Amino acid sequence: MLERILPTEVACAEAFDDPPGQWLFPEEAAVISGAVARRRAEFTTVRSCARRALGTLGVPPVPLLPGARGAPRWPAGIRGSMTHCEGYRGAAVALAAPTRWLGVDAEPNAPVGPAVLDMIAGPAELIHLAALDQLPGALVHWDRLLFSAKESLYKAWFPMAGCLLDFLDAEVELHVCGTFTARVLTAPPTAPAAVPRRYEGRWLLSDGFLCTSVAN
Ligand SMILES: CC(C)(COP(=O)(O)OP(=O)(O)OC[C@H]1O[C@@H](n2cnc3c(N)ncnc32)[C@H](O)[C@@H]1OP(=O)(O)O)[C@@H](O)C(=O)NCCC(=O)NCCS
Repeated sequence: MLERILPTEVACAEAFDDPPGQWLFPEEAAVISGAVARRRAEFTTVRSCARRALGTLGVPPVPLLPGARGAPRWPAGIRGSMTHCEGYRGAAVALAAPTRWLGVDAEPNAPVGPAVLDMIAGPAELIHLAALDQLPGALVHWDRLLFSAKESLYKAWFPMAGCLLDFLDAEVELHVCGTFTARVLTAPPTAPAAVPRRYEGRWLLSDGFLCTSVAN
């Protein structure tokens, strides 16, 4: 699914279950050893996906350890992003030249619920979502898509900016044609001025999953 919403120079790999026989480097296994089985499984499978995708770029298998605030540490010269949810694991990687940023996210196509919606959507976005909900025949849960778009934005943003972005710090406009625009409204003061404030993204509904990407 991810390759359908990413530029051709980005290599992707994905899995819809946790096949037996996957492995971790000892330092990766140490990082995740205290987690519950479900977390260990997603951590392991998504790293298998990432190593497969890296392999298509000619990068040999290396440990992919969490760094600051959980952001994965990629080999020098590589940008990448990983996502997992129930029934899906996906990784995308690219050469840092020419790819300047890369974030991906996958979510089940289900509503986020009113409490979460209040936390993730600003007033303009709530009006925008209400209008999208009026579209005839739409199968998309637009509130979940907004959430996913913001997660992809954050995964692209963090490695460049090195700081958290709250959900209400950015505004997303979803387009029915499979694209979206994300604007950072309030950047934390520590965010370098050179980090872009406007991003174009893509999205897809497939097999019950909403996938989003922010890449350039
Ligand atoms: C980090 C976060 C984005 C992960 O998203 P999620 O939907 O919960 O989980 P996903 O399975 O899609 O993604 C998890 C992966 O994201 C990656 N990730 C985690 N923190 C990250 C960060 N700071 N920067 C980039 N990637 C990160 C990791 O690879 C992680 O998988 P791993 O722990 O197995 O390595 C989310 O938990 C979070 O903290 N969100 C708050 C910030 C935010 O989204 N703001 C919105 C701004 S508009």
